[in-house]
Amino acid sequence: MDETNRGRLTKDGIRIYETGDFAGMHTAGALAARILDDITPQIVPGQTTAELDRLITEWVSAAGAVSATIGYKGYRHASCISVNHVVCHGIPGDKVLKDGDILNIDVTVIVDGWFGDTSRMYVAGKPSRKAERLMQVTHDALMLGIEAVKPGNTFGDIGHAIQAYAEGQRMSVVRDFCGHGLGRVFHAPPNVLHYGRPGTGAVLEEGMLFTIEPMINLGRPETKVLADDWTAVTRDKSLSAQFEHSVGVTADGFEIFTLSPGDMFYPKSKDAHNA
Ligand code: MF3
Ligand code: CO
Ligand code: CO
Repeated sequence: MDETNRGRLTKDGIRIYETGDFAGMHTAGALAARILDDITPQIVPGQTTAELDRLITEWVSAAGAVSATIGYKGYRHASCISVNHVVCHGIPGDKVLKDGDILNIDVTVIVDGWFGDTSRMYVAGKPSRKAERLMQVTHDALMLGIEAVKPGNTFGDIGHAIQAYAEGQRMSVVRDFCGHGLGRVFHAPPNVLHYGRPGTGAVLEEGMLFTIEPMINLGRPETKVLADDWTAVTRDKSLSAQFEHSVGVTADGFEIFTLSPGDMFYPKSKDAHNA
């Protein structure tokens, strides 16, 4: 059997994996999440994004894993690091973090052929109140999207949960990038939109594996890609945040493969915010 050809495809072309495949996803997801845990103390004013990526590259190799992004469509780094108004696909470089910067670090690793893809937000020093609120809303939007994951629900239900919450907080959902199926490949059907209408789109089935990775802006949703062909920024220069988990559909709901092993991600939880 072809490595990438296991399980079966739905009529929408979405691969259905087997129960035993979830263990491989769990291992890959846990490594990606552990790397995001371990990088946390390095996020300080004065640090460069290149140095963060150098550490991540080292840790991926040390774990005996392979970076999914090095060599992907010509990309040359083990992480994407997207600072402030960068929406996604920020390229690590000599940029120096300064007090109050918010940044997303996105890492995808391959372990035994399984892909683990996750990203979260960090702060160098102390964030502004509005930056903190943006990060909190983005994380809560992701978790509300994940809570809509169960057999019989649709991808439109996931997008709607994210959009309704984010827009209710007077923020906007980026339309130009989406989540994706993954498993034995990096990007597969479906496109997981972070907006939509309840009951629309493909129906979720047990065995589907995909990411949910909403990008939420304080201002307008439009983005543009810079001349480096990767860096996506908000057109209005407003702050943008993103969180990403790799998930699988189980018989009665979901499994998140990329939870923080140290339970140390920022922000802590919806409850902490509302308290
Ligand atoms: N990890 C990103 C995602 O969530 C993809 C990055 S591709 C790269 O799908 F080439 F920019 F690294
Ligand atoms: Co992804
Ligand atoms: Co990613």
